[in-house]
Amino acid sequence: MATYIVLLGPPGAGKGTQATQIVQTFGLAHVSTGDLFRENLRNQTELGQLAASYMNAGKLVPDDVTIAMVRERITRPDCAQGVLFDGFPRTVAQADALSAMLAELSGKVDCVPYISVPAEVLVERLSGRISCPTCGRVYHVTNNPPKQPGVCDADGTPLIQREDDKPETVRKRIEEYLKNTAPLIDYYRERQLLVEIDGTQSIEVVSQQILNAIRKVKAS
Ligand code: AP5
Repeated sequence: MATYIVLLGPPGAGKGTQATQIVQTFGLAHVSTGDLFRENLRNQTELGQLAASYMNAGKLVPDDVTIAMVRERITRPDCAQGVLFDGFPRTVAQADALSAMLAELSGKVDCVPYISVPAEVLVERLSGRISCPTCGRVYHVTNNPPKQPGVCDADGTPLIQREDDKPETVRKRIEEYLKNTAPLIDYYRERQLLVEIDGTQSIEVVSQQILNAIRKVKAS
């Protein structure tokens, strides 16, 4: 039976940082809607251009566009063992759509690790974030630096700062999160799927707590 995990948390909580270890441990596909939009933008698709107009303003891409993209993505062969959703769902409409999509695949959301981090920490994290445009690996100039400054440890690609990590866009993204995505905390808590994790702890401790939460659900 496939496993479906929703990684929930505000912008900069550490979802992308934690994703690599989770997908490797449980053999899941990593479906990050932000990464999918950025990939479309790099490939200059119509979807990429549409998404960029929202992303660069710190707004959410419309639900119908996002849901259609995820619906197509989760039918690909690499999703057969299950999926780690990173940055999706972000609205109640997306969460309802996800349940319906997974039901069509005879699956359901199994666990929702929620990485909780206060807003003031998020701004500091995002302003220092650098990432690899090739493999998506995420670093921080001081908290989590690459071995060689400015270069990805995994593939040697020069690291970049994201367009939407400018301070004014970060503030807008956090506002959008509070308005549209934070209601999902109660949504998944009511369904007894939420596991809250203190995201201000070290990357290693957060990682262990997420892996343990998923192991517990898989064992039950
Ligand atoms: P997306 O790419 O999903 O961005 P996000 O959710 O805003 O999350 P981030 O990638 O910014 O942060 P993260 O939680 O992954 O943190 P990270 O691991 O990098 O979305 C971008 C945009 O796309 C959205 O604004 C929207 O426009 C659009 N979009 C995407 N999905 C959508 C959807 N479903 N619907 C509509 N629109 C959508 O970590 C951050 C930094 O902190 C790093 O530098 C890292 O090294 C550091 N760090 C991580 N953990 C720790 C720790 N424990 N201690 C210290 N430092 C840490």
